[in-house]
Amino acid sequence: MPTPESQSPITTNNKIRITPSVMCADLCNLEKDIQELEKSGIDLLHFDLMDAHFVPNMPIGLALTEQLRQKTECDFDIHLMVEDNDFFVNAVANIGVQQIAVHAESATHLDRTLSVIQGYGIKAGVALNPATPLSAITYVIDRLDYVLIMTVNPGFAGQKLVPATLQKISDCRTFLDKHGVNLPIEVDGNVSFENIPKMVAAGADILVGGSSSVFHKTGSRAENIQRIHHAISLGLEDRGV
Ligand code: DX5
Ligand code: ZN
Repeated sequence: MPTPESQSPITTNNKIRITPSVMCADLCNLEKDIQELEKSGIDLLHFDLMDAHFVPNMPIGLALTEQLRQKTECDFDIHLMVEDNDFFVNAVANIGVQQIAVHAESATHLDRTLSVIQGYGIKAGVALNPATPLSAITYVIDRLDYVLIMTVNPGFAGQKLVPATLQKISDCRTFLDKHGVNLPIEVDGNVSFENIPKMVAAGADILVGGSSSVFHKTGSRAENIQRIHHAISLGLEDRGV
């Protein structure tokens, strides 16, 4: 269990949000799947946009993201896993998205890219691979609206949590508290029914639900969302709230 250094971590509002990962949905029946998710009560939709360079995969693209914009009222939570962040930021900004995370590891000019995102009136986030230290965001913390902690190595669904990342979530909460910023922490990768309580207890505020929770094979979307809410409540109990 992570050991948070700070006694009472600043949490956003203890409203833990669920953002289903579209790449894990039924891509051949996506509109129907998203409608089912909306009925089950989700907060955002997570779009993993990959260029097959930064990560060796490309599950969904710009055209699909643009078409889905017309099919749902959900906020779009964009996770860029690309070499050319500025190209993709400008491309998705015109689609009408609400938040964009870029990887610190692929951002040549991270401060400028985050300014461009915020210049569009879109929330800006930095995604950190499991091995990347939190110090990567020290000098852009005032340009951030959230932090995306990768709990698996990016590029694929269905992977297992990198164990050290549970402590990293807690360390990130402590790091943000120390900088006096009350920013949400989004966690992404193997956000499973078993891992959610630990992730929430460590300080996670936004959960990317993928193959091990929202789209888990053993339940319907509604049943899985219910199981997630139960797991969240266990984590909030551990947080002492
Ligand atoms: C991986 C993506 C994740 C992925 C999560 O690079 O960022 O959003 O879809 O899938 P699971 O939940 O199966 O790990
Ligand atoms: Zn993602």
